[in-house]
Amino acid sequence: MSETDPPAKIWSGRFTEAVDDLVKRYTASVFFDQRLAMVDIEGSLAHARMLGRQGIIQADDVAAIESGLEQVRAEISSGAFKWSLDDEDVHLNIEKRLTALVGDAGKRLHTGRSRNDQVATDIRLFVRAEIDRIVGLLRALQASLVDVAEAHAATLMPGFTHLQVAQPVTFGHHLLAYFEMFDRDVERLRDCRRRMNRLPLGSAALAGTSYPIDRPSVAAALGFDGVCANSLDAVSDRDFAIEFTSGCALIMTHVSRLSEELILWMSPRFGFIAVADRFCTGSSIMPQKKNPDVPELARGKTGRVNGHLVALLTLMKGQPLAYNKDNQEDKEPLFDTIDTVSDTLTIFASMVRSITVNAERMRGAALEGFSTATDLADWLVKKGLPFRDAHEVVARAVRHAETEHCDLAQLPLDALRTFSPLIDASVFKVLSLEGSAASRDHVGGTAPAQVAQAIAAARQRMAA
Ligand code: ARG
Repeated sequence: MSETDPPAKIWSGRFTEAVDDLVKRYTASVFFDQRLAMVDIEGSLAHARMLGRQGIIQADDVAAIESGLEQVRAEISSGAFKWSLDDEDVHLNIEKRLTALVGDAGKRLHTGRSRNDQVATDIRLFVRAEIDRIVGLLRALQASLVDVAEAHAATLMPGFTHLQVAQPVTFGHHLLAYFEMFDRDVERLRDCRRRMNRLPLGSAALAGTSYPIDRPSVAAALGFDGVCANSLDAVSDRDFAIEFTSGCALIMTHVSRLSEELILWMSPRFGFIAVADRFCTGSSIMPQKKNPDVPELARGKTGRVNGHLVALLTLMKGQPLAYNKDNQEDKEPLFDTIDTVSDTLTIFASMVRSITVNAERMRGAALEGFSTATDLADWLVKKGLPFRDAHEVVARAVRHAETEHCDLAQLPLDALRTFSPLIDASVFKVLSLEGSAASRDHVGGTAPAQVAQAIAAARQRMAA
């Protein structure tokens, strides 16, 4: 070797000049894909043991690989491992260190394998574990929502449509709407996990391998439900990452909707709730401010995760079979999605728990907007008036109450009777907020009794 020889890269045998420095940095992934190190080692151990069982490599090589990888694992955990840009990615860095530690056995690890099936396996293992963790975080947030809902199963607030006061609802019922959203998010992630949980290893670069490998045993060792049925598909598609990110985009969308409400409810104009100070910040100029930074940021970070979803979809759309280097770009969006969703859910689980309610403000707001108008219409229908006529009667009563600056329940009976002779004193029961809410007493309704049942059901569902 002369001094002008290019530095040795694992694949540099067929090259005649060294890779340009910027190109080296441009093509390398080690500074972000080192996050896959632990699953990479797990996959390599399962692969090496299979090679040994099949007599493709010797038992002493397997033993050397095992002890070498254990040492690499320890070095990475302790921070002593020296990651090198020259070795491009997590896979080559680990393999190089292994070979430095155990010699030729290390060079035999890659028998019957390619980085293409290796990385596809790593990401699946990685995302699978993250799904399990994120489901746990969703459950914690759901548990917070249920606990606060329980404390406020009968607390009345205005329910809105078009952000206009519509009908009274209980705050517990309102919070349980988010329980349902996050429950579907759990289902979605679990569903995605099920499809993802197939082993790519054995597909090698793209066409499979001529060694007598045993893929099902590797799948079982790594906790996969089976093997990917087509090698070209296995090394190339990242649809599972897209599905996962889309599940996360929906989680963030739900968090963002909740955030928007928290921000409104915390604004002095609403004054419905407060959250603990540790989730807010002050203003550097206006001493009176307590700003809802956490929900605002969560709302903002939703855009970031949506962006990652679009990045991954776009990454995939033009790729011919099979593996292309484009796929290396899957990692940063995926990792950032995981971090954003994890931090957001963790903070929200404790922030929601810290909510304190100003029940008087909520009740007052529900009283202001003729929120029991539908109840009056329904009451008239039950007395025999067709719904459209009842609607008209109530509309006129509301217009009158508006000019009197009072709520429907505050109009005297005589005044109400001018709009319909069917009205009698028993109408006042449905005109109260409590009466209105309590009358919506069916599965999915806002009645306090139903909220209590929904809470019990929610707790059971979470345990399943
Ligand atoms: N770092 C690569 C990635 O993330 C690993 C696979 C590389 N394969 C290859 N043929 N260059 O996708």
